[in-house]
Amino acid sequence: MNNVSKPDLSVKIGSVRLANPLMPASGTCGYAAEYADFVDLRQLGAFVTKSITLSPRAGNECPRIVETRAGMLNSIGLANVGLEVFLAEKVPQLQTLGIPVFVSVAGTMVEEYLAVASALEKVPVVRGVELNISCPNVKAGGILFGVDPSAVRTIVAEVRKVVQKNILIVKLSPNVTDIAATAAAAVEAGTDALSLVNTFTAMAIDIERRRPVLANATGGLSGPAIRPIAVYMVHRVYTQVARASGVPIIGLGGIQYARDAIEFLLAGATGLGVGTALFVNPRCLLEIRNGIADYLRRHGQGGITEIIGALRLGD
Ligand SMILES: Cc1cc2nc3c(=O)[nH]c(=O)nc-3n(C[C@H](O)[C@H](O)[C@H](O)COP(=O)(O)O)c2cc1C
Repeated sequence: MNNVSKPDLSVKIGSVRLANPLMPASGTCGYAAEYADFVDLRQLGAFVTKSITLSPRAGNECPRIVETRAGMLNSIGLANVGLEVFLAEKVPQLQTLGIPVFVSVAGTMVEEYLAVASALEKVPVVRGVELNISCPNVKAGGILFGVDPSAVRTIVAEVRKVVQKNILIVKLSPNVTDIAATAAAAVEAGTDALSLVNTFTAMAIDIERRRPVLANATGGLSGPAIRPIAVYMVHRVYTQVARASGVPIIGLGGIQYARDAIEFLLAGATGLGVGTALFVNPRCLLEIRNGIADYLRRHGQGGITEIIGALRLGD
């Protein structure tokens, strides 16, 4: 029996139960050590790592971040330590977190994704693999996999074969005409969960130099500027694909306050990711968690699952 004065915030992403839906967005909190000084990580629902590739990557040239009105553009280009260093140096700290760990996996070829995902099957602390097929900042692979439904089906089906112990989460690109089509392809190929959205390909120009601000010319837009589009995309994927198939959605894109997170829940998200807002207020994940609990109390609801997809349309 749910208790209205202490609402149950727990959710399930595939077979993994989270104490609450909140997690950092991949790439915004490194491998946990970078963030641990700011917040008691055990209070979060899960931790999501920076995307890992088979070999280390230096990423793109600087400047690779620029602030925009109501958001930011980044073209980090998947800078990361690579699988070997991740296993040797980052996993030991992740083992001490005490919350489920999801590792984001990226690559430029299917074989790379398979090698990293297979290695993560042997790491007990890892509970899930988030397939980043939607990074807009790398020249080969990355977004190319994520925008074509048949390419999504192929890569997800291949990775699904090796991901057994861990749950499989597919992170979708918003840089498509209809995100329900790529979501459906990932579900057909057997994903356990979907996360959406990654960043929107965008550009900023230095008008005096008449050159792009980012060394890479283009980058990915994130933060409050994208939130209404991300809410719409979660709503669309939930109503067209996820609700009927029972596949949970991790919603993200511009979440900063509890009211933003609640929009995502009502639209159909089960999990909630926060990225850009952490650069403004690293503690906002906990404030959002507490704000959701207040909302549930105010509406006399004993559990968060009661409001997932509870958007009212029509009369
Ligand atoms: C600096 C930065 C680095 C990111 N790196 C990754 C990454 O490595 N892998 C990934 O899947 N998404 C990455 N993202 C995208 C975020 O995980 C998230 O999908 C996006 O920023 C939207 O959420 P937000 O508006 O809350 O930031 C990155 C975003 C930022 C701002």
